Amino acid sequence: MTAPLQLTRDEMHALGARALGMVIHHFETNRDNPTATTLTRDEAVSRLHTPLPEAPTPVSELMDILAQDVFPNAFHADHPRFYAFVPSPTNFVSVVGDFLMSGHNIFAGHWLASSAASQIELTVLEWLRDACGLPATGGGILVSGGSMANLSAIVAAREARLGGHDMQAVVYCSDQTHSSMFKGLRILGFGKQQRRAVATDDQYRLSVPALAAAIAQDRANGMKPFCVVANAGTTNTGAIDPLHELADLCEREGLWLHVDGAYGAAAVLTPRGKALMAGLERADSITLDPHKWLFQPYELGCLLVRDAATLRHAFRVEEDDHADYLADVSRHIQQDVNFYERGVQLTRGFKALKLWLSLRTFGAAEFRRGIDVGFAMAEEAERVLREDARWEIVTPAAMGIVTFRWSPAGLGAAEADAVIARTADAMRADGYALVMSTMLKGRPAFRLCPIHPATTAEEIRETIVRLTRFAEESTTG
Ligand SMILES: Cc1ncc(COP(=O)(O)O)c(C=O)c1O
Repeated sequence: MTAPLQLTRDEMHALGARALGMVIHHFETNRDNPTATTLTRDEAVSRLHTPLPEAPTPVSELMDILAQDVFPNAFHADHPRFYAFVPSPTNFVSVVGDFLMSGHNIFAGHWLASSAASQIELTVLEWLRDACGLPATGGGILVSGGSMANLSAIVAAREARLGGHDMQAVVYCSDQTHSSMFKGLRILGFGKQQRRAVATDDQYRLSVPALAAAIAQDRANGMKPFCVVANAGTTNTGAIDPLHELADLCEREGLWLHVDGAYGAAAVLTPRGKALMAGLERADSITLDPHKWLFQPYELGCLLVRDAATLRHAFRVEEDDHADYLADVSRHIQQDVNFYERGVQLTRGFKALKLWLSLRTFGAAEFRRGIDVGFAMAEEAERVLREDARWEIVTPAAMGIVTFRWSPAGLGAAEADAVIARTADAMRADGYALVMSTMLKGRPAFRLCPIHPATTAEEIRETIVRLTRFAEESTTG
């Protein structure tokens, strides 16, 4: 009798070849498929739900189910015409990196277990740190995504500035800060009176005078301001907060400056992004998600800090916390990096592999070229929209995002708002391109975020042709 769960060499080859074929097929045909398909709950149950099977099923049958019923019925964030939310265009090399990571299953929690993998993670972090302009004392950790990076940044800030939890502590965000930050604060035990969503100006940037006033008011009320969260590319409009001014204010006030660049900070690799985000290098911590504008498959986020010791301090396992079976590991802590002491997770995979493999395979210049396409396509969309006076640009192309409204002469605001919802639904049903809406200063607006490196100007134009047609139909219908 063979050991449980083992495949023969031939079976592994056959299954691997099938899986590889499916992924290559996806890469080759993605552009021709609908951008977004959603099953109803009943459809999903009837196609996919089974009781836990006692007996085996031929894996080829399961691959058929995946190919027919699972993979097509999703939002395809890696589709060249997926312009909603924050797209996640990938690259084949990184996909292979994920396979290799999983296949070798290296525990990347501490140096003893993963010296080479840890070194690769350190190297990748150094690349990103240097790109952001943080000093050599800086470091970081790869995490699941922006939510985890933002939450971890607050933990580091709180430990560094307050030495732990404090019911008087206050964090300042803007009214454009991503919801993950507020969620993270709540998880960390911050009450509503401990987090401020400071007003933004007419360009959706955090207002420094409003922030300064809020800090002064809180100090007068006996609260303890300790952290400001700035945006380097808001999800809504791509706005970049005034980073130098915020850094000056934080220096004066002794506050930690966290920059949420989950979406935008990757663009710092390009000269254009670097210029737009001047001041990023003065942050105490930065969130930068490679699974957004750095073309990595989910899940890959990154937290960078100005001083790597602040992470170790925040996420240390203390002597009396009884990590007895890690004693042999902890003896090495002084000279080595143990990633379990830089973040929440102990057991963690070799997350750096895919980013390292793809950056080395293509070279940074190729990534830069890919990022520049995002800037260019958002500008192309703005240009095409401006050709039709019925489209009103709400925020011009910024960091690969443009927002706009349907405002033909004579159409009231309420009707114009309703057209947005109807048009977005019609676009989704059409399947050619995914365009969704957001709320800006209390009113809905379309939002286009075309950051796939293979998106063409032709596709942008056709998307706007269809949007215009559906908006016209929605207005008269
Ligand atoms: C600016 C910003 N911060 C944080 C997040 C949360 O990141 P994740 O979804 O990877 O947890 C997002 C996601 O879109 C984002 O755009």
